[in-house]
Amino acid sequence: MYFCTEIANGITWIGVNDRKTERFENYIPLPYGVTYNSYFIDDEKTCVIDAVELGSASTFLDKIVECLDGRKLDYIVINHVEPDHSSGLKEVIRTLPTVKIVGNAKTLGMLQAFSPDFPVENFVTIKEGDILELGNHKLTFAMIPMVHWPESMVTYDLTDKILFSNDAFGSFGALDGGIFDDQVNFEFYQSEMRRYYSNIVGKYGPQVLNAIKKLGGLEIKFICPSHGLIWRKDIAKVVSLYETWAKLEPETEGVVIVYGSMYGNTAKMAEIIGRKLNCCGIKEVKIYDASKTDLSFIISEIWKYKGLIIGSCAHNNSVYPKIQPLLHKLENYGLKNRYVGIFGSMMWSGGGVRGIQCFADALKGVEVVGEAVEVKGTPKAEDVIRLEAIAEEMAAKLIAERI
Ligand code: FEO
Repeated sequence: MYFCTEIANGITWIGVNDRKTERFENYIPLPYGVTYNSYFIDDEKTCVIDAVELGSASTFLDKIVECLDGRKLDYIVINHVEPDHSSGLKEVIRTLPTVKIVGNAKTLGMLQAFSPDFPVENFVTIKEGDILELGNHKLTFAMIPMVHWPESMVTYDLTDKILFSNDAFGSFGALDGGIFDDQVNFEFYQSEMRRYYSNIVGKYGPQVLNAIKKLGGLEIKFICPSHGLIWRKDIAKVVSLYETWAKLEPETEGVVIVYGSMYGNTAKMAEIIGRKLNCCGIKEVKIYDASKTDLSFIISEIWKYKGLIIGSCAHNNSVYPKIQPLLHKLENYGLKNRYVGIFGSMMWSGGGVRGIQCFADALKGVEVVGEAVEVKGTPKAEDVIRLEAIAEEMAAKLIAERI
């Protein structure tokens, strides 16, 4: 017997918490787990919204069978084909072979690409605005391309005003007891939600804003995403957070200092800058060693704060290997609305600082503060003054923006 929570009027959460998988998309750590949310609609026709990842399919199927209580499953809607929501579908089809799979014109091709033996005859193609009648409940659909794949769509229950938003408004972090926004301390989920957003959807800010605009006209009583909390109390909060992140606007004042250091000299420079920032009145200063902290956490912090100071020692005339992927990802995502400081150490040819300068020059939406500081070996007294100048200028910029 599973604990399946009713959300409203015959609609039940049948999601699965995954605390086993080490890495999402096989590269982003999941220290707090992740959920694959799914929803069962009990009506004249039975319907499931979204499937789950294959490793959780057994629990998922048990929940479906429990909800069906001997009836047949009529529909399963696939809002998005990425395997965290579709790889478990083959187990559903194997167990409940008459189920109709509902998706849009792009969905079918992707399902077939993953599973060449996918039963095409079971597929029902819908397009934007179509209505799927279940009895009391009437479902309609809206395309939200690139949030997070081209075929991504949302399902909206016209009867109970529920938005099944799939990846949009999702989060990392398993649901530990509470499943609604008003049942938990949101601070933890905000951090995991930002880490999810910035790493998974971060490149697609304009598309997220289009989706928010498109869905803005709907009356929404619940947002039911496919990862993380279900929203019923403070829907405006999650929409506002997603809007901020999609515009690449910082949440708050503060500075992330991230560095790559082989022998401790660049690390020493980071400490000098951090201390000076604090002395200048900046309370939120976060210093990360890129060799220790996973990139996904650093990216999330960069999304949070207005200030970013990057340090790299020289490595083979270039940027330190643990800093390179950070620069690549930030450039790929088009980082903007940030003040950026640059520093690093070298011994003979340099290259770390030069590489970060090239990165900053390529980004049109960031402003470099102060002079980039490159030090030979360990920082000397005159270098400390130059490093502190970066901190002073950064702090002055941030403080000037205080309301
Ligand atoms: Fe949760 Fe893009 O899959």
